[in-house]
Amino acid sequence: MAVSIPETAASEASTKLPALTALKREFIWGVSTSSFQIEGATQEGGRGPSIWDTYCRDGEIKNHDTGDVACDHYHRYAEDVALMKALGVQAYRFSVAWPRLLPQGRGAINEQGLAFYDRLIDALLAAGIEPWLCLYHWDLPQALEDQGGWMSRESVVWFTDYATLVAKRYGDRVKRFATFNEPSIFSLFSRSLGKRDHSADDKLHRTIHHVNLAHGAAVDVLRALVPGASIGSIHNVQPILPSTPADAAAAELFGAYWNQAYPDPQFLGSYPEIMLPGIQPHLQPGDPERIHRPADWFGLNHYSPVYAKADPDAMMGFNWGDRPPGLPLTPIDWPINAPAFGETLLKVHKRYKLPIYVTENGYGSHDQPDASGAVVDPGRIGFLRDYIEAMDRAVAAGADVRGYFVWSLLDNFEWDSGYSVRFGLTYVDYNTLQRIPKTSFRWFAEAIKAARQG
Ligand code: FCB
Repeated sequence: MAVSIPETAASEASTKLPALTALKREFIWGVSTSSFQIEGATQEGGRGPSIWDTYCRDGEIKNHDTGDVACDHYHRYAEDVALMKALGVQAYRFSVAWPRLLPQGRGAINEQGLAFYDRLIDALLAAGIEPWLCLYHWDLPQALEDQGGWMSRESVVWFTDYATLVAKRYGDRVKRFATFNEPSIFSLFSRSLGKRDHSADDKLHRTIHHVNLAHGAAVDVLRALVPGASIGSIHNVQPILPSTPADAAAAELFGAYWNQAYPDPQFLGSYPEIMLPGIQPHLQPGDPERIHRPADWFGLNHYSPVYAKADPDAMMGFNWGDRPPGLPLTPIDWPINAPAFGETLLKVHKRYKLPIYVTENGYGSHDQPDASGAVVDPGRIGFLRDYIEAMDRAVAAGADVRGYFVWSLLDNFEWDSGYSVRFGLTYVDYNTLQRIPKTSFRWFAEAIKAARQG
């Protein structure tokens, strides 16, 4: 299937490619998505419900949006692979919907679900794009949530069985695996960050510890079952800054939970000291070793610095803080700060000493087609160029960064905001499901081509 990339009039500023000095030709360029955010077909092909179907049904998402149709990628995956081929990416990070393979989370296997990812993986390989498979991007089967979800230590067994199924089915064709996407984000947010609920503190620690154990167990399974596997996990790393000097201790604590609760035990073998009082009650002999399994890479998602304040009424005593006035912001009000990205890459490189793949970075906005039907998004181009140049400078300064994936290939369902914000290089018309590559799509295609020519 061929797709056409529209020609659009663009200013010189929005066509200028990143000036790169340090990235090697074999640097990997990619795009990322996740199952619930793009697939749709939530009640098709034998899929069971996930916790996100429940959140949507309960009206927790802006405009009461749901994932029922999303980008209809379940039916249109071939067109989406053709888009990636036109973009010229070497790699595609996607996630498997656990409830598509195991509708009840464990037990009965859904062959139709397995076959969907066979088709996707085969189409990617035929297009010369390497599949990067993430096991968990937040869509826990509802049936498992009903049995305690990540609060139960049994979740480690459930996840190991699911990872075994994935490894056996796809390990002949897929070699790049991530265990979890941004575990700190789903654990902090599902455990009511910012709410007046101290009972959430213990739930948070259980979740963190069980997810870490599940990571370690999945690494072992993937390593044993997939010859040549390259395994990592994906963490959202952002500077956490105090809103005022009085918030310094709160920001430090927030930073430990946001940035270190997972990578420290997974890659260094221990939890940050500051977290130990909460974790200790759930720690069993041998647990640190079960979590600290050899990994091949650090998946780093980065958007923008976070501001924190002390709040004795909130979970763990920290909360979102006010931002200083006057920061440059994206159209969805996220601070733009490319140097902070470069510093984050260097810090993560020094701390964990693993090759880094930037598995998400991107720009949210409210793009709409213009009168000619083109979607012109110079803001996204400027953002991506600045961030890619900051990454290049970090590499020049010694950070071992080997790949960069834009979030996202397509506009898609966003966790709180539904379809009201757009992160794609490709515009999706949610009435017709038509895909329209934005100006940034063409720009990124040219940036990749130029970078690979060296
Ligand atoms: C990240 C998520 C991803 C997407 C982007 C905007 O935190 O991993 O699914 O929502 O933010």
